[in-house]
Amino acid sequence: MPDDKPLTLHRLRALHASGEKLAMLTCYDATLARVLDDAGVDLLLVGDSLGMVLQGRDSTLGVSLEEMAYHTQCVARGRRRAWLIADLPFGAYQRDVAQAIDSAAALMKAGAQMVKLEGGGWTAPVVHALVERGIPVCAHLGLTPQSVHALGGWRVQGRDDEGAAHLLRDAKALAEAGAAMLVVELVPSAVGAQLQAALDIPVIGIGAGPQVAGQVLVLHDMLGLHGGRPPRFVRNFMAEVERSEQPILEAVRRYVAAVKDGSFPDPRIHGYD
Ligand code: KIV
Repeated sequence: MPDDKPLTLHRLRALHASGEKLAMLTCYDATLARVLDDAGVDLLLVGDSLGMVLQGRDSTLGVSLEEMAYHTQCVARGRRRAWLIADLPFGAYQRDVAQAIDSAAALMKAGAQMVKLEGGGWTAPVVHALVERGIPVCAHLGLTPQSVHALGGWRVQGRDDEGAAHLLRDAKALAEAGAAMLVVELVPSAVGAQLQAALDIPVIGIGAGPQVAGQVLVLHDMLGLHGGRPPRFVRNFMAEVERSEQPILEAVRRYVAAVKDGSFPDPRIHGYD
């Protein structure tokens, strides 16, 4: 069991350096923040996926900075140990660095300890400016949901050599700019492994195979609450709980255990190779 001491960037780096896998889940409210924290989740992500799972939108594009700040406050009140990351929503950092600094400051004031932003090399100056101002940053590459229309839908990224090389270039540029963590979404396992091998910072995968530093899923997906057919990379941990007084806590405990012992994801079931 993890100790109860709040995680810091230093402790996360030490966990990563020791080879321990990091378990991340999305979280949008105080009650579930407490449950996830009790279950040993290391990283809580107030994802702009809340636009889809809480608000019923068909993409994340409509989520506002104010909504992100509100849910960040809620999660911050429920967490004790887990490190809290909040997404910069679409339109809150694309204009220029000054806009990104203001938006990130709003999320940090709401209780975030790190902000996440989506995009390739063009975001490197933004990452640099935020990090210089004391705001830890998690980058996000691969399938970046805020670009779903430009990408032509929810498609696997980095399948060919050129695409994989592009991702590698971007990942190195973002790490050099000071990103302390990288989320990589929907890429072949080999590409996830290649990115992690090239970087010192932890790569957190979602549909990126097992050879990365940690895993993230949307909480509602791993609890079996996805409205339709969930993506291939999702495992329904709730379906594996037989009888429990606290089934959500138990499902999340199983997720944390499976991430830590490397049994999730299984590339044959959850992969895109
Ligand atoms: O918004 C979100 O939930 C995310 C995860 C899918 C990584 O960015």
